[in-house]
Amino acid sequence: MTSDLHCSVLPFLLLPLLPPLPLVHADSCPAVCLCVSDTVSCSSRGLTRLPVNLPPVSVTLDLGYNRLWSLGPGGFTLMPRLETLQLGHNQLRALGPGVFFNTSGLRHLDLSSNRLQVVEKHYFQELWRLEELLLFNNRITQVEGGALGGLPWLKKAYFSLNLLTHFPFFSIKEQSHPSLTTLDLSSNRLGRLPWEQVDVLPTALQRGLYLHNNSLVCDCSLYRTFHRWEVRGYDSVKDFEEELTCSIFGNRRASVRFLLHGRFFHNCSVERGVSGPVSVLLPSVVVPHGDRVRLDCQTSLSGRSSSHLWFTWLSPSRGALTPSSVRGSVLRLSPDGTLDIPAVRLEDSGTYVCTAVDHRLALNATRRVEVTVLPPAGESFSTGYTTLVGCVVTVGLILIYLYLTPCHYCGNRRAGTSRRVSLQKQFHRQNRLFLIELSPQKHEGVWKQWPGWTYL
Ligand SMILES: *[C@@H]1O[C@H](CO)[C@@H](O)[C@H](O)[C@H]1NC(C)=O
Ligand SMILES: *[C@@H]1O[C@H](CO)[C@@H](O)[C@H](O)[C@H]1NC(C)=O
Ligand SMILES: *[C@@H]1O[C@H](CO)[C@@H](O)[C@H](O)[C@H]1NC(C)=O
Ligand SMILES: *[C@@H]1O[C@H](CO)[C@@H](O)[C@H](O)[C@H]1NC(C)=O
Repeated sequence: MTSDLHCSVLPFLLLPLLPPLPLVHADSCPAVCLCVSDTVSCSSRGLTRLPVNLPPVSVTLDLGYNRLWSLGPGGFTLMPRLETLQLGHNQLRALGPGVFFNTSGLRHLDLSSNRLQVVEKHYFQELWRLEELLLFNNRITQVEGGALGGLPWLKKAYFSLNLLTHFPFFSIKEQSHPSLTTLDLSSNRLGRLPWEQVDVLPTALQRGLYLHNNSLVCDCSLYRTFHRWEVRGYDSVKDFEEELTCSIFGNRRASVRFLLHGRFFHNCSVERGVSGPVSVLLPSVVVPHGDRVRLDCQTSLSGRSSSHLWFTWLSPSRGALTPSSVRGSVLRLSPDGTLDIPAVRLEDSGTYVCTAVDHRLALNATRRVEVTVLPPAGESFSTGYTTLVGCVVTVGLILIYLYLTPCHYCGNRRAGTSRRVSLQKQFHRQNRLFLIELSPQKHEGVWKQWPGWTYL
């Protein structure tokens, strides 16, 4: 079996690829800092300027709780391996051009609790690998339109406790920010939002868009959007129902906890009930060969009446699928866009992309699902299924084989066959349990709900 070979040989194969342990040069650690391995801590030192001679091999640099008020261009140029930079609790008012020159490896940037006022377009230009951006508790009144452009790997951005009255939602698209799942805009001064832009944000982001404790103005568009998020059980709404308030006619004193007191909005038309599995953005599905799988097409357009939506799927093994092209085949494409494959084959593995098009509004949105079909039990894994799952399942299989393989000397072939059948069932059952356990962890608890694809 190729996969157990995989398991045992893997660590040795990886060994030469690991980076050599960094050498710590005592002489290149500034006196005010502590250098351990590739981490440098210079926090709470009353620094007003960057220390000189920072070790060039550093991966983590902590400059928090100081009195830095300005960073010159190229301050971190000689630290090309930097991945985490903590600048929280300083007195920065602005970032000049080129501050992050040559630090394009940066993945976590903490600029919280400073005095920044405008997030300018050029701030993070070099940081195309950035995943986490902390800007809470500043004095930010404006985020320029292109400021988050060019950050394709951005996952989480925190802007709470600032003075924002608007935000460039239009600059965030499925294509430009495919990984963005958290955008915290709570505790700002947001009043009237462009709800039509919010409604077409990528679904994964709508789930993690935090807007509580603002100065939102009550109107039907606001209610409709939040009602939809509530129906779908988004944590950003569920966990902050008390703090989600809006003010009637913009009067701060007349504020309503609008999800708890929906009667104020009974004239607003809202989406009634949602059928089937609600809101789902499970990016991958693992299914045993021969099983049935249903892939939903929930996109940012899904809140709208689906009678105006037109769905097409692009599948790895059968090309483009439309309602007319699947007629007469075993596949089904329901009016809500769900693709139903009654018995998946190995060659059905791959990326499925659903496109929902709203012709009236000339909008379209896509949903991407990675499908992995597990070969029948006992065969080796030839697909690019994750090594971890591959290994664990293999170990499980080996154990099952060790304990359950029919004895060879009983001479009863029938008994052997029936055991084998039940073994296959067991494998499937085991897999199912395994998936149930694995899925929530894999997504760091972002998706608490049981994923919406149906497993039959
Ligand atoms: C940028 O980093 C590289 C190492 O990745 C280094 O060789 C180069 O000198 C740095 N550029 C500048 C301008 O310091
Ligand atoms: C709400 O926002 C205000 C500033 O707008 C802040 O002072 C306050 O602490 C916030 N409250 C909560 C509960 O976050
Ligand atoms: C709702 O609509 C009715 C008539 O259609 C109107 O009389 C009533 O004032 C409206 N209520 C609110 C809260 O706007
Ligand atoms: C979807 O929208 C993009 C522009 O946003 C357009 O280029 C593309 O042709 C559209 N696709 C469909 C299938 O309408």
